[in-house]
Amino acid sequence: MDEQNKKIGPKIKRWTEERLNLRQIVAVLLDIFPVIYGELDQRLDVREGLQKLLKKPVPKRLNFLYCFGGMTFLLFVIQVVTGILLAIYYKPSAADAYTSVKFITNVVPLGWLVRQIHAWGSNLMIITVLIHMGRVYFHGAFKNPRELNWMVGVVLLGLTLGFGFTGYLLPWDQKSFWGTTIGTEVAGGVPLIGSYLLVLLRGSQNVTGDTLTRFYSVHVLILPWITTMFLAVHFAMIKRQGVAKPL
Ligand code: HEM
Repeated sequence: MDEQNKKIGPKIKRWTEERLNLRQIVAVLLDIFPVIYGELDQRLDVREGLQKLLKKPVPKRLNFLYCFGGMTFLLFVIQVVTGILLAIYYKPSAADAYTSVKFITNVVPLGWLVRQIHAWGSNLMIITVLIHMGRVYFHGAFKNPRELNWMVGVVLLGLTLGFGFTGYLLPWDQKSFWGTTIGTEVAGGVPLIGSYLLVLLRGSQNVTGDTLTRFYSVHVLILPWITTMFLAVHFAMIKRQGVAKPL
């Protein structure tokens, strides 16, 4: 244990002092994890508790396609952690948003990395959730008795896309301003309720600082909590019903 601490100490010091590349950061994390896990397991029997909770029978002939639900969840957790870190420096106002994002990228230690992980994570999460949905569809896992979980999944897909749509505006640069202008205009084209929907999304007739405040609160407060609730229901149903056999 002391041996391991001695190895990690200088690495962390270097990590905070200079901008390391990704391979060096992964190496540090791989050094830290066994120390924390070993200490916890020794005192709390984490392994035994986890095995009781998670060891469930699954169908024979599982393949990597079954991993995409779990991968989507892992990405969601990464998004929450990196999002909280970004929120420490991000300023959600028309006057400060753009400069605060520049500050995160260029000045905050490892800010560039946290921002890139958050941006890449959002795209990857959409890709993995679509593959997961396709896996469930082509295996016929949406059929009785899992119809309700499919419907919960459809809501989760909408929430995932909602994160992407609201997050896109937050850097408050030309790309995000015009992207949101077009995106909300599409909503404005919905028959009958389009004009109301447009004002509801923008907060006025145009994309302004009010839109930014609105999107920020949806992105960091409303969507994360609703998603967490729907994920809890999704997982509770999977635990109760088990994973379906392929058709
Ligand atoms: C944030 C998004 C989502 C997460 C984190 C998630 C996570 C998971 C996980 C971990 C499983 C266990 C088995 C597996 O991975 O294949 C699962 C199963 C399932 N998911 Fe999702 N899911 C999400 C979105 C969706 C979507 C968009 C749909 C469909 C519209 C869906 C429908 C289902 C169904 C029906 C099952 C049961 C499949 C079976 O029993 O074989 N999920 N989900």
